[in-house]
Amino acid sequence: MSVSILFVCLGNICRSPTAEGVFRHLAEEAGADVTCDSAGTSNWHVGGPPDGRAVAEARRRGIDLTGLRARQVTPEDFTRFDLIYGMDRSNIAKLEALRPAGNGTPVALFLSECRGPGPGEVPDPYYEDNFAAVFDMLSEASRGLLARLA
Ligand code: 4NP
Repeated sequence: MSVSILFVCLGNICRSPTAEGVFRHLAEEAGADVTCDSAGTSNWHVGGPPDGRAVAEARRRGIDLTGLRARQVTPEDFTRFDLIYGMDRSNIAKLEALRPAGNGTPVALFLSECRGPGPGEVPDPYYEDNFAAVFDMLSEASRGLLARLA
């Protein structure tokens, strides 16, 4: 049965759409039976495309993010998805506040899927402008997750 995964960050224009694009690309390459989506804890960019710097970095790595549009995470996402990943601890706290009573969907930091002791949180490239480093972190976590699901 297909596993469904939701990636969550603050704006849904930098980290989580990149995670969605990279994970989908690697999953297709691996022939894995998974589906994924992404969302933001804020409504700041709802309906908008990913940040141009995230689009450019992904394009440089052969991944097209241009079709993605930002949306805000909802309580219904806890029943629609099997696994939910936040990019930082603030994302996790906001997700836990949204969790419907009695729902047990696992919510974790995405970098917990990296091998070894990683940085824990994905830094926000919107402010830090480190899109290449963030892309690398999201690739490693995606590979780790795919290996665990295989
Ligand atoms: P993201 O980055 O959470 O990785 O999408 C951000 C995008 C936009 C803003 C902050 C972070 N913002 O302040 O608009």
